[in-house]
Amino acid sequence: MNTMKCFFLMTVLTALPLGGVCEAQTVTPQACEQSIVTPQTSGRYLWLPIEEKAPEGKVLVIADGKTLTEQNVRMAREQVDYYVALDLQPYLKKNGMKVCVQNVPTGSICFKKLVQNDDADYALKEEPFRPAYHHTPQRGWMNDPNGMFYLNGVWHLFYQYNPYGSMWGNMHWGHSTSTDLIHWQHEPVALAPDAWGTMFSGSCVVDKEGTAGFGKGAVVAMYTASRPTPFGGDVQAQCLAYSTDGGKTFTKYEGNPVLTAEDKDFRDPNMFWNEDIKAWNLILAVGQEMRIYSSPDLKTWKEESRFGAELGCHGGVWECPDLIQVPTENGKSSNGKSSWVLLCNINPGGPFGGSATQYFVGDFDGHTFTVDDASRYTNGKALWMDYGKDHYATVSWSNAPEGRKTVIAWMSNWEYANDVPTQQFRSANSIARDLFLYQVDKEFFLGSRPAKEYDGKGLDNTYKVKGATTITLTNAEGDTFIITYDQKAMTLTCDRTKCGDTSFSDKFPAVTVAPVHRKLTSIRVFIDNCSVEVFGNNGEVVLTNLVFPKSKLNQN
Ligand code: FRU
Repeated sequence: MNTMKCFFLMTVLTALPLGGVCEAQTVTPQACEQSIVTPQTSGRYLWLPIEEKAPEGKVLVIADGKTLTEQNVRMAREQVDYYVALDLQPYLKKNGMKVCVQNVPTGSICFKKLVQNDDADYALKEEPFRPAYHHTPQRGWMNDPNGMFYLNGVWHLFYQYNPYGSMWGNMHWGHSTSTDLIHWQHEPVALAPDAWGTMFSGSCVVDKEGTAGFGKGAVVAMYTASRPTPFGGDVQAQCLAYSTDGGKTFTKYEGNPVLTAEDKDFRDPNMFWNEDIKAWNLILAVGQEMRIYSSPDLKTWKEESRFGAELGCHGGVWECPDLIQVPTENGKSSNGKSSWVLLCNINPGGPFGGSATQYFVGDFDGHTFTVDDASRYTNGKALWMDYGKDHYATVSWSNAPEGRKTVIAWMSNWEYANDVPTQQFRSANSIARDLFLYQVDKEFFLGSRPAKEYDGKGLDNTYKVKGATTITLTNAEGDTFIITYDQKAMTLTCDRTKCGDTSFSDKFPAVTVAPVHRKLTSIRVFIDNCSVEVFGNNGEVVLTNLVFPKSKLNQN
């Protein structure tokens, strides 16, 4: 093994090829273990060329003998698929700042040219599958929506984010804002990895009374810091960060972590204020159950109870919980007192394979969540919120206006999320939906109707239904997406097996089927460049599916 290092110094010039000098005799033919780049003192972004099939190397920013950031990056070796930005803004004024690239062979194409400039849109290409009105990151990878809250007319959406490539890794919290749930503004990264780990999913609350000591009206985030151990596996701990500028910037709490355990999968904290006990509650996914906690101040948490080990679907790990009081369609509650719904995302184990959102209807007294009717969840039975293949990690906005329970889901599935045919960005979120409960005989079901912000915007088509119905969405190339309502069988089905590119995963071509609990009178369809969302009776039954057609689908 050759332990000699290959150092070479590069002055980065905007849009000019870089001269790299490497002492050839010291280099192994395969690997240049370390290359050093000295950026200019101006120019916020250093553009890293990415090749998706390249293995991960490391990119570090070092100054004053400290590593300021360290990311896993698939630096291009033979071809450049797209560029991602290393945002140098926080480091530009640091003494002797250097960027260090490790584990990328000498002669790799990434070293031929590195561009540093202030142009956030540098080398951004139009992509056919970029949605027109669904939220996506501008570049890079996204999974779960995180920490959503509404404040002063603005919907804040944070999300699991890899700014350094379009595959999962380097988890940050990305941030976007919107005033209409249609147009999204990209904001700077909210939370970046630190010594406790990478930033996994979590939630935010508006602490109106300042109970946490961060000031009245502070926005407080709780997230899971996840860190691989040298012995294999990850350690996961719950941490706080707070914002005193309405969510623009966050400061991590110096007392972190606030909640630890020895359990392996211990994550995705979801906090809310509970007026009944005049305290905060927290629900956390731990393996295949939920843990419920309470706190006076968001910092010290007492375990109250555990839920779910014997109920619902257990085909995979339970993740991303939410516990919310949901209005019934006629204003009444499910048991005469209150109507609580526990959202439980599970992966794998979904009805059509991979990821999906199950739910439980019941009551919550601030200490214990009890289902109304356990027989609906025994022997592996589960209630599913959405019967498409691409609806995961659903959670609600905190502090939403008019008492609305507005949710959004990651529109993908862990079975193939890393392989879908987009490049500069990967994954979109569903449209936002307002939850409601509707009653059929004695049972309550969870419905999710498109948020009213989408009404009258020309984004959807509503088909009146009188009995069995087939709707074929198609395009000039003959791709088809078929929606079938079978009134006898009481099912609503979506078939994407002949809808453009399905080749990237054998798990992708799918026919998904939803049970219909009340006869349908309408089917509402939202089509975007890579998705079809189908709402029976405006949200009583929902199917969300990705599609990659040769051109955009139209109704037939
Ligand atoms: C769900 C999930 C979460 C975790 C996050 C990591 O998709 O696995 O449980 O916090 O993604 O990105």
